[in-house]
Amino acid sequence: MFVQIAPSILAADFSALGRAVEDLTTAGADLIHVDVMDGHFVPNLTIGPPIVAALREHTSLPLDVHLMIEEPERSIEAYRKAGADILTVHAEACRHLNRTLAHIRETGAEAGVALNPATSEQALQYVYDLVDLILVMSVNPGFGGQSFIGSSVNKVAQIRRRLSELGRRSVRIEVDGGVTSLNAATLVSAGASVLVAGSHIFNAPSLGEGIRSLRGK
Ligand code: DX5
Ligand code: ZN
Repeated sequence: MFVQIAPSILAADFSALGRAVEDLTTAGADLIHVDVMDGHFVPNLTIGPPIVAALREHTSLPLDVHLMIEEPERSIEAYRKAGADILTVHAEACRHLNRTLAHIRETGAEAGVALNPATSEQALQYVYDLVDLILVMSVNPGFGGQSFIGSSVNKVAQIRRRLSELGRRSVRIEVDGGVTSLNAATLVSAGASVLVAGSHIFNAPSLGEGIRSLRGK
């Protein structure tokens, strides 16, 4: 099965993030998933642009920056300058989603839109042509280590069907939250092309084994 693996450094030792990014790169990750939380959109506070810039020095892999922040349009330039390759904003956090996604592309980054578990895929209806990646949250954002919400599989399938109808098969569908080797194959069959995983990879016997198990190997 072809799938990209994006380990979430939210599950790493925050006192040694550079080392974690290097180890994930060596272990076979395809992208590095960086969870940015502002303490408002989600009840947790994590990483800002200076840390993204510092991590940029430790890997040549794309930095997949997941902005769980209010008014993300105010920070797009800062995260792009820090070295983000993909910038994903939450549909729920954007008053002018169309404008924000266009702005991300203008900076040269790939534009992603994320949906919380309770947000319908209908929210994407008028932005399909503005996105390179769609992030389906399979937990309520804010924390690692939560249990997978099963209804996200159907949401992935609905979005994949719509992308096919629109002839936009190259748009990546990423799933984030509670992803393990037990649900990875189901998600890929439904149409997911990128799997984010934090605890599954960091709790595995080795980072490499954690990553490979999500590829079904
Ligand atoms: C949740 C984050 C996820 C999280 C995934 O708010 O967006 O990226 O770190 O962690 P696990 O894989 O442990 O659910
Ligand atoms: Zn995330």
